Amino acid sequence: MLKNRNILLGVSGGIAVYKAAALTSKLVQAGANVKVVMTNSACQFVSPLTFQALSRHEVYTDTFEERDPHVIAHIDVADWADLVIIAPATANIIGKLASGIADDMLTTTLLATCAPVWIAPAMNVHMYDHPAVQRNIGTLYKDGYRFIEPSEGYLACGYVGKGRMEEPEQIIQLIKDHFSAKQDSPLKGKNIVVTAGPTREQIDPVRFFSNHSTGKMGYALAEEAQKLGAHVTLITGPTSLHAPTDVEIVPVTSAADMFDAVLSRFAESDIVIKTAAVADYKPKHVHDHKLKKKDGALVIELERTKDILKELGARKTNQIIVGFAAETQHVEDYAQEKLVVKNLDMIVANNIAENGAGFGTDTNIVTVYHRDGKQHAYPLMSKQAAAAEILREVAGLVERSGKLT
Ligand code: CTP
Repeated sequence: MLKNRNILLGVSGGIAVYKAAALTSKLVQAGANVKVVMTNSACQFVSPLTFQALSRHEVYTDTFEERDPHVIAHIDVADWADLVIIAPATANIIGKLASGIADDMLTTTLLATCAPVWIAPAMNVHMYDHPAVQRNIGTLYKDGYRFIEPSEGYLACGYVGKGRMEEPEQIIQLIKDHFSAKQDSPLKGKNIVVTAGPTREQIDPVRFFSNHSTGKMGYALAEEAQKLGAHVTLITGPTSLHAPTDVEIVPVTSAADMFDAVLSRFAESDIVIKTAAVADYKPKHVHDHKLKKKDGALVIELERTKDILKELGARKTNQIIVGFAAETQHVEDYAQEKLVVKNLDMIVANNIAENGAGFGTDTNIVTVYHRDGKQHAYPLMSKQAAAAEILREVAGLVERSGKLT
């Protein structure tokens, strides 16, 4: 699986450097090409010679040590990588990357690479919990970096808590999953548009109508589809979620914005998954100034928004269209009706009144309905796991239909 994959390992200075040495050895044994960039602090723990011997490649430690006059080393190695892993990642390297600082070989390489970058933090539990570190991790999440969360346990500093770098075997498994998914899935290379989150319909400059959607299901789908090698565009209403790695993000606010964003990408899409909780109504008149309170009732006249999914169903040529139905009763009847009326290939229904399903939770209970009458009810599972199941069904549609090249 890892044969001939180019993996760049960024090693910063913490006691967990010994795990990076084990990781290098295991990656090489699995057939990967491994190059290592070390910070000065990392060299205080382990000599570059250790990584050179394990990786059988020269180790980079200094931006200005240009051994090959034909290339600029940090650009060359940044371009070479299929995947970059910073392990261990100290609070310092996380802070530098979050601030865009490039003052050594590792940080210049990190800013220069277009490959996915995964970060495996390792530090004292209080350092990990420090607001500055958490703020930097949040920034990097938003920038599309992926974190390999540290585990809890005995730390070298004597504390017990969260901060222990993930074990090399686990990291290798994540890397294998990453490459195997990309290699095998029928969704590989497909253009997938996912919509997520709520929309906001403006009443006046300070108020809007919206709903309880947090976007978690849509973001999970975008992340899982990207892992399967799809080119993913995530058209998202306002949420507080971190952007998934290597996914194009298109932020929108209203149902009308979402309509334009989805429709303008429809011709180039292979698959559209409409997870968003789009407002069905918007105020007929948007007030330019803040509405002042008066005695008595306030009546706001609403008008229908455009049904994006129905429009896609009417226009579809060879795209696969997947809708969602969030219901509180008669789930199957309503879902089946939407499947037909909106001309969908598949609809994912959930009863948001059930415990563990619906808005804001990390779990969901979904049933998938197909046009040919097939249906599959899934038990309670994480939204990430539900996303993987839904995409497995979409991949099956792609394979069966043979519609897509
Ligand atoms: N949807 C859409 N555009 C809208 C409203 C909904 O594209 N203006 C999509 C949603 O993204 C979802 C599906 O339609 O995939 C179902 O949305 P839902 O609001 O549950 O159903 P509606 O069709 O609006 O019908 P109802 O309000 O009767 O439940």
